[in-house]
Amino acid sequence: NEGALWGARFATGPSPELEALSRSTHFDWAMAPYDLAGSHAHAKALAAAGYLDADEEAAMHAGLDALAARVAEGTLLPAPHDEDVHGALEAALIAEIGPHLGGKLRAGRSRNDQIATLVRLYLLDHARLIARDLLRVIDALTAQAEAHPEAIMPGRTHLQHAQPVLLAHHLQAHAWPLVRDLERLRDWSVRASVSPYGGGALAGSTLGLDPQLVAEELGLARPSENSLDGTSARDVVAEFAFVAAMIGVDLSRLSEEIILWNTREFGFVTLDDGYSTGSSIMPQKKNPDIAELARGKSGRLIGNLSGLLATLKALPIAYNRDLQEDKEPVFDSVATLELVLPAFAGMIATLRFDTVRMAELAPAGFSLATDVAEWLVKRGVPFREAHEISGSLVRACEERDLDLHEASDELLASVSTHLTPEVRDVLTIEGSVASRTGVGGTAPERVAEQRVELVERAQTA
Ligand code: ARG
Repeated sequence: NEGALWGARFATGPSPELEALSRSTHFDWAMAPYDLAGSHAHAKALAAAGYLDADEEAAMHAGLDALAARVAEGTLLPAPHDEDVHGALEAALIAEIGPHLGGKLRAGRSRNDQIATLVRLYLLDHARLIARDLLRVIDALTAQAEAHPEAIMPGRTHLQHAQPVLLAHHLQAHAWPLVRDLERLRDWSVRASVSPYGGGALAGSTLGLDPQLVAEELGLARPSENSLDGTSARDVVAEFAFVAAMIGVDLSRLSEEIILWNTREFGFVTLDDGYSTGSSIMPQKKNPDIAELARGKSGRLIGNLSGLLATLKALPIAYNRDLQEDKEPVFDSVATLELVLPAFAGMIATLRFDTVRMAELAPAGFSLATDVAEWLVKRGVPFREAHEISGSLVRACEERDLDLHEASDELLASVSTHLTPEVRDVLTIEGSVASRTGVGGTAPERVAEQRVELVERAQTA
């Protein structure tokens, strides 16, 4: 094979089975634009070090530009015998500018430092797209919170009624993890902004090429400090896959609630027709498929991360061909999020909440019992005793099939002399929510303040 990057020391060419196993163009072609960007930068470094004269450098850049245009329009594709994106593009460059000049580009670089750099460039670009789409989900959540500043719903622990909370508080509780995911992407991108280019196969280069120049050309902060580490570390890929999996898990938790809220039994939300699906047999069905796909695909994102970690776990330094297995899982994580996030944002933005139904259910399950106990504490009753009194009141009401606020003056007094009729002042869901004014609490003014902070954090992430 004429275009191959190696061969002289072999008596025969590779077997077809080896070629089939080794080939990666079906997935690494996605990095062709980054490979060409790397080659532009490398050509500059070669010229700066005196290995290309000005005419050669200009012809090299022109040749690479011609390839980039053909890649972009889809007319340059890898040939069946090409092993990987690097070999395919070198062969194409040689066809474009001839073997003498085309053959000079590979000096001082290896596919090992190339691939380690390109995967960073690819992920940094996609991290920006994912962050943009994630911000849209956060915006949809905060817009819904803002549109329902006073709506009250049952707050749950163990999925059981616990205490009433604001719908806005609950929606924002789902937005915060996504804000942290945005911050994770940002923190990751600082660590990812390193260029292994110049590390060669593993030990560095003898040619005196300037790695800082290459890093700057590629928009990366600095060259890798260690050529062995630079060419063989993939924690940068694993960390990205973790953030992607975390986003998946965070969306999945919200998905689970939307699926529950959309049941007849809850009846808290209605999904927009454009963001729900029907059944092929049951004409009445309207299904929450976006939430289910988001929940399902979180499994795939977790799988990509764990597969990647398993691949990395016993690899000695430096480059090992196992490392080629990093691309497909992380590319899949990228593609998955780029599909899920826009649909998810649309689903959230168009959700309709049945706030009357939510408010009706908010006091059910004696969810104001804690308010009774804290009302007693404010009157000097020790909390331990207050908890007992409130618990006894719950039992008395349960036996009589009453809600707490329906207990008569006599019933209250029979439970405890501390329970005067004024206790009914705290037995409304509005009163309960309004009184939780501590930092991070569900009182409307705290939730509104929290939203300002949330939006600001999301904007600056
Ligand atoms: N395709 C490889 C990868 O994705 C890069 C090529 C390195 N090949 C080699 N034989 N050193 O990691």
